[in-house]
Amino acid sequence: THQWRGIIEEYRDRLPVSDSTPVVTLREGGTPLVPAQVLSERTGCEVHLKVEGANPTGSFKDRGMTMAISKAKEEGAQAVICASTGNTSASAAAYGVRAGMVSAVLVPQGKIALGKMGQALVHGAKILQVDGNFDDCLTLARALSDNYPVALVNSVNPVRIEGQKTAAFEIVDMLGDAPDIHVLPVGNAGNITAYWKGYQEYAADGVSTKKPRMWGFQASGSAPIVRGEVVKDPSTIATAIRIGNPASWDFALAARDESGGAIDEVTDREILRAYRLLASQEGVFVEPASAASVAGLLKAAEQGKVDPGQRIVCTVTGNGLKDPDWAVAGAPQPVTVPVDAATAAERLGLV
Ligand code: F0G
Repeated sequence: THQWRGIIEEYRDRLPVSDSTPVVTLREGGTPLVPAQVLSERTGCEVHLKVEGANPTGSFKDRGMTMAISKAKEEGAQAVICASTGNTSASAAAYGVRAGMVSAVLVPQGKIALGKMGQALVHGAKILQVDGNFDDCLTLARALSDNYPVALVNSVNPVRIEGQKTAAFEIVDMLGDAPDIHVLPVGNAGNITAYWKGYQEYAADGVSTKKPRMWGFQASGSAPIVRGEVVKDPSTIATAIRIGNPASWDFALAARDESGGAIDEVTDREILRAYRLLASQEGVFVEPASAASVAGLLKAAEQGKVDPGQRIVCTVTGNGLKDPDWAVAGAPQPVTVPVDAATAAERLGLV
């Protein structure tokens, strides 16, 4: 009779909400922490996957969006706006419906996965495709929220970070302490900021005895933090993290430096290799951007940077169903058979 109540109710005392905050929730959070057998063998470590694709709209964004939309509603907003590479817009669209608010979303034209576009459409968001990249969309969203009656729900809104930090709480609650290393993909750098905040708060309150080293990975064609400069025309097949000027850049550097961690890059080829490994060997289907964390862990292990015996958590941020093109591309076409057991058995290699 008891189901997970969503991150606001589960972590109410650690979030900036009060009794008068209207809680807009789809029961996000409480996502699986899955032991990764093949990754553990390959690295000699105890590797877990925090499967954020199991959230209601299929990505970690729901943790931040339940907070952002609840607070916007509390403040009387009637419309919200975000810039997005797809997942934030899908989440804003769904939570906007729950709140009875208009959601406006700005996406880079031609550069978001079909599943995410479908989500924004079916939830009835007002969508504008912007003739520019994500960074341009964010500039435009900020300008609109500054000058018009619409609340910004991107992760530059600090309550988004508050919601997303709960993923770190769940991991510590599950493992009994913080891991030694936490690995995640980095785009606009809100999530690495949020996890680090969560781990710091639990350590400060003595819930955990330690804090992990934070390892973030950007896609090589979209790696401004690694390069130390804005990337004007970011590119990568991992469209979710195709970002050239991350809003939380300084917070990401702080997470890296305060934790003794690292921010590095992985190529699209490495991302796709990890994407296929996760699906074919761990049974976990993620979207390409999510595989950047695992690609990064494998790269670090191959470089001898991963001491054996550590406890490592990789966040896989979004569901593979959002962007299935990469699952189908290059895979053999299934053969067609008549309704005949002998033929089917033969084709299946059973005889
Ligand atoms: N993984 C996925 C699946 C994402 O959608 C994003 C960001 C990230 C990783 C990177 O997280 O930006 O906090 O560093 N997606 C945003 C969006 C930009 O609009 O959906 P970050």
